[in-house]
This record gives sequence, C-alpha cells and structure tokens, in this order.
Amino acid sequence: MLQNIILVTALNLNKINIVKKSIFIKDKINNFKNRLINVDGDKSLSIRFIIFSSLAKGKSSAKNLLMSEDVISAINCIKKLGIKVQISKSKCNVFGKGLGGYRYKKNLLLDAGNSGTTARLLSATLIDTKNTITITGDNSLRKRDMLRIIKPLSKMGVKLKSKNGKLPLTIFKSNKINPIKYFENLGSAQCKSAVMIAGLKTPGKTFLKCVPSRNHTELMFKNVLKIPVKIKNIKNFDQIQIDGLKEFNSFNYKIPGDISSAAFFIVLTLLSEDSSLKIKQVNINSSRIGIIKIFNMMGANIKFTNQSIYKGEPVADIFVRSNNKLNSINLNPKLNSSAIDEFLLIFLVAAFSNGVSTFKKLGELNKKESKRLDWGYKILKMIGIKVKKIKNHGIKIYGNPNFIIKKKIVIKDFLKDHRVFMVSVITALTKGGEWKIYDPDSIKTSFPNFLDIIAKLGGKIN
Ligand code: S3P
Repeated sequence: MLQNIILVTALNLNKINIVKKSIFIKDKINNFKNRLINVDGDKSLSIRFIIFSSLAKGKSSAKNLLMSEDVISAINCIKKLGIKVQISKSKCNVFGKGLGGYRYKKNLLLDAGNSGTTARLLSATLIDTKNTITITGDNSLRKRDMLRIIKPLSKMGVKLKSKNGKLPLTIFKSNKINPIKYFENLGSAQCKSAVMIAGLKTPGKTFLKCVPSRNHTELMFKNVLKIPVKIKNIKNFDQIQIDGLKEFNSFNYKIPGDISSAAFFIVLTLLSEDSSLKIKQVNINSSRIGIIKIFNMMGANIKFTNQSIYKGEPVADIFVRSNNKLNSINLNPKLNSSAIDEFLLIFLVAAFSNGVSTFKKLGELNKKESKRLDWGYKILKMIGIKVKKIKNHGIKIYGNPNFIIKKKIVIKDFLKDHRVFMVSVITALTKGGEWKIYDPDSIKTSFPNFLDIIAKLGGKIN
C-alpha cells in the first residue's frame, strides 16, 4: 500500500515537472532512516558509451544508460551521422560501422542541446568529415568555450570556423590530419577526451600531457575498446599516447549510478536531522569522488560498501548519515577537478559547518552550464550566509551550523542549469524558508528521476 502511494506521488510529480514553470517548497523534509535508493546512470559514461559505440564495429549494448536530455542529444547526433540506435526499456543498442563509418551528408547540422560533453567529444569524431558539418547547442551551450578543443584540432590540421571560439562550430573537409603533441593545462576531461578521440582518427601517434581530470576515456580505451594507449602518471601530470587508426570491436557496458547525482542525496542526508541513506551501485572512480573525500575531511563519515570493479571502473554502495558537527575546510585546489560538478553542494555544506571555509582556483566553475561560482555566492548570500569572493576564482564562506532560513527565496534565470535547480531544492528541504524555484524541467538534463526520489523520501514539493 505504502509502495503504491509512493508510486502515485512520483508519477504525479513527473507530470508536474512537464507542465510547471516553477515549484514551491515551504516544508523541511522529515527524518528518513535506513532508506535505500538508486540514482540514474552516470552521464559521462553514458555519453562516452554512445560516442565510442558509434565508432566501434558492430552492435554494442548498454544497460542502465542514463535517459536524460544530454544523452538523447548525443544519440540524436550519431543517428544523423547514419548510425542506427535501438532503445528499449532494458537496454540501448548502437550499430557502429567502424572508425570511418559516419555518413556525412551535405551541410549537416548537429544539435548537442545543453551537453558540453557531447559538443566537445563529438566534434573530435568529425575531423574526417567529407562535407561541411556544423555543431550547435542551446542558449547555455552557445555561451561556452570551444577554443579549448579548437586549438588542438587546428594544430592537427583540421579546418574549423567558430563564433568567437563558441558554438556554432563548423568543420570543413581537411586534406591532411597529422598527429600532435599537446599540453592540456585546464584539467578538462572533455578537452583531454577530444584530443584522445581525434587521435583515434589520425594516422601515427598522438601525445598528450595533461593536468589530471576524470579518466573515464582512458579507462574505456584500455579496458573496453582495448586499443593501444599508454598512460603514465608523472608528478602532477598524466601522459597519454594513442596509436591512431586502430579499429575496435563492439562491446557491452553496464552504466553505474552517477556520483554527481548521488551527491544531492548525500547532502540531503548530511544536512537533515537524524537521517541515514544508502545509495546503491554508484561509480566511485577516484577522479570523481572529491566530494566524498572533502566531506570526510570535514568530519562526515561516508562509507563505501559492496565494492567491485567493472571494466576498470570502481563501483560501490554509498552509506551516509546526518551530521551537524562538520568542520570548515581550506580546500587544496588539487581536489578541485575530482569534485568539479559538485561545488554548489560543497559550498552549501561549508555554509552550515563550523568555521570559515576557503575555495580557490575555481575559475572553471564559471564556464559551466551557468556561472556556477557566481551562483554559489549568490545563493548563499540570498539565504543570509556571510560570503566573500576571492578575486574571480574563489570564495570564502563563513559557516554557521545553527543557521535556519526564514525568508522567501526566488531562484530564477539560471540558464536552466540543472545543478542550480537541484541544489536549491536540497537547501529548501534541509534548511527551511519559503522557496519558489523556476525551471524544474532542467533536471531532465542529467537526473530525470531527481524529484521522484525526493518524493519517495518524503520531500513535499508543490
Ligand atoms: C565531463 C567533464 C567535466 C564535467 C562535465 C562532464 C566529462 O567538464 O564538468 O560535467 O564527461 O568529461 P570539463 O571537461 O569542462 O571539466
């Protein structure tokens, strides 16, 4: 019976998402104990599955693929390139035709929607185009930097044209593509992956030196596609070498839960009273779990159980309980990259911990779906927490564990950034106030089941 009620609420909420422009929250969530949830599949791995399977030879199959708008954008792009895709409830099949298998129709326009990963990784797969091809995106994506991939691709001899280093990006037929040596100094996994993928379509050896960032592409090259790739970690850099033009076979892949989605429920639990939660089978790749390392350094006791390794990617259940005795942190920027998508949540936890926290060298945050460093500052200021900007790259947060929000708060005009929407919901449900939050549809970008899971745990949203 209880199960039915939960299901009905979840379904209704889903409908509300589709039609509503905004949601209201005025009640904190009640304690929840020993609850068990699954979060949606990992976005980075889902998009990589789509791109690599489109370049493999034969039928590849994925289970638990994230069915979000970002992944659907990637699917629609490869379909336009002549790749057949079958989607059923339990799996997604992609019928790749090998490295040279895309069909480049004349003046093709590909739309990556909101997805930076799709735009940047897919552009690199198009360097052997036979016809002029353009890749574009939505309002938010068209504001984002593409120079970071234009630079290495141009160095390879690819002919490109962009709008001041932004989308739309047009790629022309190139006569000759040559391998390069490239230094990726932003710590951007998308940029690194773009060079690696372009290396796949280039004769000879491509060398990359890079500031470490999430390593899903390296792990897939090595353990799934089994293509010749050499990876060395030297001091503060990774060195990668790729042998180009090596075909690979189709493969099967099971996508684990997304730590970036689990993160919202980790914080919901940490900041609620007397609650505990287990999140099942989440990817805990060390290049992604900065948020957990940071919270544990602040005094949380988040644990992994039921651990395993799947095709090089570590997976585990995550156990978390409430904690109102967390300490502030002066974060070493070396951890920035492994928590890059979670800083809105980390700022929130810092705001309710004991002492002053500082975060630096986070300029990249203002280059995401919205200006997230600015949004972190804005939200904390709006709710009444003392914050200071550190130049244009950091933030100082004066934590207050006893702070309760008593105001009316409106969150709008955030370029439909899914993570701004979701962090606002978590703040409202844990710290009170009367909230009106616009654009609930934004969750469809990365975490379509977000509001359903909130409802299952007892969160009241109108
Ligand atoms: C991603 C890399 C990160 C991250 C993004 C997904 C990826 O971006 O913020 O959500 O899948 O490679 P950057 O490469 O810009 O750091």
